Amino acid sequence: MEQYVVKGGIPLVGEVEIAGAKNAALPILSAAIMCDEPVTLENLPDVNDINVLIESIEKIGAKVDRLDRHTVRINGSTIRNCSVDYESIKKIRASYYLLGALLGKYKEAEVPLPGGCNIGSRPIDQHLKGFKAIGADVQISHGTIIAKCRRMAGAHIFLDVVSVGATINIMMAASRAEGRTIIENAAREPHVVDAANFLNSMGANIKGAGTDVIRIVGVPEFHGCTYSIVPDMIEAGTYMFAAAATKGDVVVKNIIPKHLEAISAKLSEIGCEIEEGDDSIRVVASKRLRRTHVKTLPYPGYPTDMQPQIGALLSIAEGTSIVTESIFESRFKYVDELSRMGANIKVEGNTAIIDGVRQLTGARVSSPDLRAGAALVIAGLAAEGFTIVDDIVYIKRGYEDFDGKLRGLGAEITVVNSERDIRKFELSVG
Ligand code: UD1
Repeated sequence: MEQYVVKGGIPLVGEVEIAGAKNAALPILSAAIMCDEPVTLENLPDVNDINVLIESIEKIGAKVDRLDRHTVRINGSTIRNCSVDYESIKKIRASYYLLGALLGKYKEAEVPLPGGCNIGSRPIDQHLKGFKAIGADVQISHGTIIAKCRRMAGAHIFLDVVSVGATINIMMAASRAEGRTIIENAAREPHVVDAANFLNSMGANIKGAGTDVIRIVGVPEFHGCTYSIVPDMIEAGTYMFAAAATKGDVVVKNIIPKHLEAISAKLSEIGCEIEEGDDSIRVVASKRLRRTHVKTLPYPGYPTDMQPQIGALLSIAEGTSIVTESIFESRFKYVDELSRMGANIKVEGNTAIIDGVRQLTGARVSSPDLRAGAALVIAGLAAEGFTIVDDIVYIKRGYEDFDGKLRGLGAEITVVNSERDIRKFELSVG
């Protein structure tokens, strides 16, 4: 089983290139199968979740050519069936995007219900409510969602919760329904906007993405296009926090600074210097950081996908910080692991009370999920001594070449497979 071993205490310095956003690429890859002409997608991140989705798309018959590490050409005209098989898709939750894509294009879809997830219960009732509103009959049978309709007609849909997945899924299906659909209380995340821009590049008629009311006028078919995925704000934020935790000086490149405002604002508030360029942000941390309060919220609020990383950072900031998680109920699993490194954190319900300590000490910890795993690596980079992070398979789902990019910033981190490898690394870095 692969692990990371990290020697902490080295300030990160240099520049890091940010990849395309996984959470935009997942719906965009799914939507690409709605077109019967070739669609070229650029700036795809080379991460496990994306590669699993590409395999699933191939399995239902779409033709996928990998033009290079970050570019694929997809042709959906060869799709033979609308039933996605469980084995190929159980590993990724975002398989639900194939429901909206297949339903929109073929008026039928069979997709296994996404499995449980480590960050809490993740219902998809709002997705299904949207599909039903535009005319689909939706049944759940033997663990599979079966959605069908003869005719899809636009509808007025009010989402009961702000959901990224439901907003994009309904947008995909409705873009091929007859007439106008209005989604109210829509999510405003940059990946919602990116998915809408992509659908529009294929000929869809979607207006208002990025606001809480999205208007869609259905079109009968799509045409081919070339599209480049938006940069990953969560990957960028993770390196910004790693810079802050190690008292480093790092420039994140190939980003959209506007998408990172909630993150940059928090870093400034706790004592980092932030310099914004046109497509880059520099983070400099020269002194011990200060406490703060933070609550996760839908965009443009502070993102839940950056909650574990700020928890790790505040564990070494001066004073008492409060972190409130308002989106997912089980997102504090990293706290027990951080405590093993000397952090002083108490969780009460959806709130973590963090008494900052001067220094964490390296320990053996286990990654409970994707972002929590990244947070533990940040803690390891800041800690004194060696940290071993187990279960890095989660981290590899969403971060392209995480250890390589960190090494590029001067970190001592490597992937190991055995106790022998760990000892070898410890001897080599001293
Ligand atoms: C997406 C992201 C995930 C991020 C999350 C919130 C992808 C692949 N994943 O997940 O990384 O943490 O947005 O920014 O893009 N909910 C319902 N019913 C539904 C749908 C959602 O009650 O039908 C609730 C969820 O339980 C949660 C909240 O709504 O409390 C937000 O979830 P949602 O925005 O849908 O998250 P995902 O799209 O699954």
